[in-house]
Amino acid sequence: MILVTGGAGYIGSHTCVELIEAGYDVLVLDNLSNSSRESIHRVEQLTGKSISFIEGDVRNGDILNVLFNTHPIDAVIHFAGLKSVGESCENPIFYYENNIECTLKLIQAMQDAGVKNLVFSSSATVYGDPQRLPLTEDMPLSATNPYGRSKLIIEDMLRDLPNADRLNQAAQPWSVTLLRYFNPVGAHKSGLIGEDPNGIPNNLMPFISQTAIGKRECLSVFGGDYDTVDGTGVRDYIHVVDLAKGHVKAVDKLLSENGIDGVQAFNLGTGHGLSVLELVNAFKDCNQVDVPYQISGRRPGDVAACYADVSRARDELGWQAELGVRDMVKDSWRWQSRNPEGYSDIMM
Ligand code: NAD
Ligand code: UD1
Repeated sequence: MILVTGGAGYIGSHTCVELIEAGYDVLVLDNLSNSSRESIHRVEQLTGKSISFIEGDVRNGDILNVLFNTHPIDAVIHFAGLKSVGESCENPIFYYENNIECTLKLIQAMQDAGVKNLVFSSSATVYGDPQRLPLTEDMPLSATNPYGRSKLIIEDMLRDLPNADRLNQAAQPWSVTLLRYFNPVGAHKSGLIGEDPNGIPNNLMPFISQTAIGKRECLSVFGGDYDTVDGTGVRDYIHVVDLAKGHVKAVDKLLSENGIDGVQAFNLGTGHGLSVLELVNAFKDCNQVDVPYQISGRRPGDVAACYADVSRARDELGWQAELGVRDMVKDSWRWQSRNPEGYSDIMM
């Protein structure tokens, strides 16, 4: 059984579908601070399987101990966390408190229970301002905001665990997989689950789809004068279903004979950069909808381009992205147009 913290969220819900389809039993712990119980119902509807769902906080060590004592948990995927860069700059204590304490309580409970297989949701943000592209996992790490710093601190904390295993000659050592996501977009092709941001979206794809449906008047393209193919920022967008499948491969590997030795990081991206205007134009063409936009000033903190070298995930996890930009924009639009108010809509 796999314990999925934050499993009601955007990436977590898609990962639950793929885990169940791969034959894993899933136990979800989520406090629903940024998600809805409805996403779990929809995962159940999609898979035809019921999910053990616990509404609770990962910072609550008592809940964790009960879960480990009452369920045959083999590994944990740890999605639970706060993820807004802007909010983290306004309220860093809240971010450090939630993201770091969740992880501390989780690894303590895992150690106590003797379950030492962990997949952690990291981010390409740990590469800071990229010095060279494509980004490989061994490049220098840094943080440019409190959200990114919380990810880096957690990565560092996790890297200390195998060192302690060696000192303590632990009979059962830690196996930790750090998955560094690039830019997750898209939704399940059923249109039943997808990204449901609160308020005005910060990220590009939900802003595009909300503009296309008329909830936003106009997309501001942040910067038209970067040294890129058309002057707009370039990112490595990855379909959330591919990303979810990457988690299944990571769990398969952790639980295999030749699992992960200590801590290992993997980039999950496509390896291809796409500019803002390329994504907007693909959205318009594939979905036959208009997306009014205007070029505005650069967003502080943004880099011109960021994309992954994905060879380590391919070679060692046997995973690579299969879905392209057409799938990303079509699936995002299907989710948006069928659920204009996200999970608060009643499905037609
Ligand atoms: P999300 O907000 O949709 O999901 C996170 C889930 O964690 C939510 O369901 C929320 O209710 C839950 N949660 C938060 N704090 C909790 C706590 N203390 N106890 C229990 N549950 C808690 O976000 P997502 O996009 O699915 O991201 C999942 C993970 O991946 C996060 O750790 C995020 O930082 C990381 N990540 C996301 C992106 C992205 O662009 N979406 C990119 C890189 C990394
Ligand atoms: C953001 C986060 C990063 C996180 C990543 C993954 C910031 C500064 N960084 O990265 O920490 O890991 O999401 O989801 O928030 N854009 C527009 N108009 C918009 C929104 C975005 O032009 O309204 C542009 C941006 O300038 C960028 C691209 O679209 O070039 C992608 O932006 P976004 O979706 O916010 O992701 P990142 O900035 O790459």
